[in-house]
Amino acid sequence: MEKLPPRLRALAELVPPGASLADIGTDHGYLPLALLAEGRITRAVGCDIGAGPLAAAAAHAKAAGLEDRLQLRQCDGLEAVSPGEVDAVAIAGMGGETIAGILRRAPWLLAAGCLLLLQPMSKQALLRRWLQANGWRITAERPVREGETFYTVLAAAPGEMPPLSPGEAEAGARRLLEGQPFLRAYLDGICRRLGSALEGMARAARPPEHAGELAAAYQELLEWKMEV
Ligand SMILES: C[S@@+](CC[C@H](N)C(=O)[O-])C[C@H]1O[C@@H](n2cnc3c(N)ncnc32)[C@H](O)[C@@H]1O
Repeated sequence: MEKLPPRLRALAELVPPGASLADIGTDHGYLPLALLAEGRITRAVGCDIGAGPLAAAAAHAKAAGLEDRLQLRQCDGLEAVSPGEVDAVAIAGMGGETIAGILRRAPWLLAAGCLLLLQPMSKQALLRRWLQANGWRITAERPVREGETFYTVLAAAPGEMPPLSPGEAEAGARRLLEGQPFLRAYLDGICRRLGSALEGMARAARPPEHAGELAAAYQELLEWKMEV
């Protein structure tokens, strides 16, 4: 069994023991297979839009003797998952906009009280704002370090969320990040990303509409970083 990379390990640790999990964009199937092998969960559904990834996941499940516990389905997002069939949904390794689109097309998740475990590779602010505007409350934020690269893993449950400042939309709510390891380096990485985006915008003939929000986030995170 492959060892989970840190970003998937951080996500795995947020899966409640005994959960019935759907992993969307399961690819190799490593996340549900690790959780099944560890006995943290007893069954899982792995979905992927591609046939190739599902063939790899099936081979890995067979090699681990877990093919009876991991159901694999080829579909877009949660199309092949029935409302109420699972109580936790993981979506990792995709852009924030893609993740928000998958969630938007499965509105039953909210009514079913599902827990979301998300690891966006980009557009983190868009995803946090989407969750906030659509009845989700972010309950955990985990900055993750893989070498020089930082990722973010978050959990969300149905409910109302306190407002997010521009910096919190980019990095995660302050109250959830306090005391997390690598916080300063994590904030520094986001500041560098925002700084170069702002430099690019400054050279553009017409700055995009969200340039002001980005500049406010950058300033806020620079100040926050100095306090950590
Ligand atoms: C970069 S991989 C991430 C794999 C794994 N979740 C991880 O984090 O390591 C993205 C996977 O999502 C799948 N995918 C992309 N869009 C999808 C969608 N709309 N519905 C289901 N799967 C999708 C791709 O086929 C690919 O296997």
